[in-house]
Amino acid sequence: MTKSYGKLIGASLGPGDPLLITRRSWAVLQSGARWLYPVKKAEEKSYALSIVERGGLPVPADAEELVFPMTRDAEILLKSWANAAARTVELLAEGRDLVFLVEGDASTFATFGHLARVVRELVPEIDVETIPGVSSFAAAAASAETSLAEEDETLAIIPAAYGVGVIDHLLDDFDTLVLLKVKPLIDEVIELLERRNLLATSCFIEKVGSPDERIVRDVASLKGEKVNYLSLMLVQNPKRERGELRRGCRQRALEKTNG
Ligand SMILES: C[S@@+](CC[C@H](N)C(=O)[O-])C[C@H]1O[C@@H](n2cnc3c(N)ncnc32)[C@H](O)[C@@H]1O
Repeated sequence: MTKSYGKLIGASLGPGDPLLITRRSWAVLQSGARWLYPVKKAEEKSYALSIVERGGLPVPADAEELVFPMTRDAEILLKSWANAAARTVELLAEGRDLVFLVEGDASTFATFGHLARVVRELVPEIDVETIPGVSSFAAAAASAETSLAEEDETLAIIPAAYGVGVIDHLLDDFDTLVLLKVKPLIDEVIELLERRNLLATSCFIEKVGSPDERIVRDVASLKGEKVNYLSLMLVQNPKRERGELRRGCRQRALEKTNG
């Protein structure tokens, strides 16, 4: 007899405010599917789980954590990923759906994509569903009362770990840069913004949507501070020299108004 596996569902929960959990994710959480949630260390608090708890849903007794350590040690990473994938397959083999809780959006720098891929490598017939959600930077722009991009502006979202050399270069090509995982480079980034005269158009946002949300517009004041991992920088470069747009709505609209 062939085994019947449950479906693996990645439920995006938004970046912190439970009101930004989509109706689809909310429904799946209450569907009877078993909950899985990521932690950095065994028995540590899960940020994703805390969003749901603040939303008022009780955590089912059989909800289970999966450990994804924050390390660059390839051996530890390989082992923990193999454990997480094996445990996921083991639970899915019971035939019940699994809902994996994802902070922010499940398709944006999220553990879920990799987990789903590894699980499918192990058992190709497992069904995967990804429920999209509100990303940290969409919520951050809203909280900071700014736009990520308007009209034909360009926008790039990158992990700051590429370093200030790359960020410096990208500032010439993009009107807005979103720097994720900015924590380890915060001082270097601030120095770059000072050099490029962009401090006034930059904004730092930490734990957006959570009760600890913090918006810092005077980003230079963060120099030397150990900020939270859940933080990002929005950098706008209003004086960027733009190339000509060859074709498109704006050009045609201009032609129309000019007769
Ligand atoms: C692994 S990525 C996860 C991104 C997430 N899936 C999303 O859609 O935004 C982690 C990085 O996203 C950003 N981030 C995630 N949640 C955040 C929050 N609540 N407030 C500010 N930044 C956040 C931070 O830059 C953090 O280092």
